[in-house]
Amino acid sequence: MATLTTITLLLLFPLVSFYFEVAVAASAAGGVRLGGACTINTNCTVNVTNSECKNKTCQCLSTFFSQSNTCQTKKALGTACKGNVECSDANAICSNNCKCKTSHYKDSTNNCKPRIAPTNTCGNPKNTSCVANAFCNATKCACYKGFETTKTGCNAAVTMAIAEMSTILMCFMLAYFGVLK
Ligand SMILES: *[C@@H]1O[C@H](CO)[C@@H](O)[C@H](O)[C@H]1NC(C)=O
Ligand SMILES: *[C@@H]1O[C@H](CO)[C@@H](O)[C@H](O)[C@H]1NC(C)=O
Repeated sequence: MATLTTITLLLLFPLVSFYFEVAVAASAAGGVRLGGACTINTNCTVNVTNSECKNKTCQCLSTFFSQSNTCQTKKALGTACKGNVECSDANAICSNNCKCKTSHYKDSTNNCKPRIAPTNTCGNPKNTSCVANAFCNATKCACYKGFETTKTGCNAAVTMAIAEMSTILMCFMLAYFGVLK
């Protein structure tokens, strides 16, 4: 009896181990690459950790970016990067490091916030929170001298007008002296 059981086991073992090898290989092969079609999360996660099945496509979770069929953690402001997708803040761009795009400033909590228009209360840090050509005048963002305050920012219209006026004046003067000659 013992011999028969042993023989049976010896015969079955390769079959059983073969079955498991095939099953494991099949599930691995069944995994989907990033960008590939999927129906459930495990189609993606079997191959790529921190991925998910979103819109029927394998993608990295929102706090990760894809790189060579892997999902890497997105980077905080000030961290070295190679592309915009690597930066975690939705309003950051990659310029050697992850930085806030020009329409935004890095606030005291290390998040990119929209720059503040003149006449509105400054953010934190005060001066860098204001739009271009503006500074924090005590508590409110204000345009630098020579810049015109608009609803959304500070433009150089006044300076341009002055420059244009002096050019026109110069032309008149040149014409006047030219006529005198
Ligand atoms: C996704 O997983 C399901 C359930 O295991 C499977 O039936 C299906 O074939 C898989 N899809 C792909 C594209 O691998
Ligand atoms: C903001 O900038 C202005 C002009 O550059 C400076 O006079 C002022 O002290 C600064 N304010 C703060 C809060 O840093």
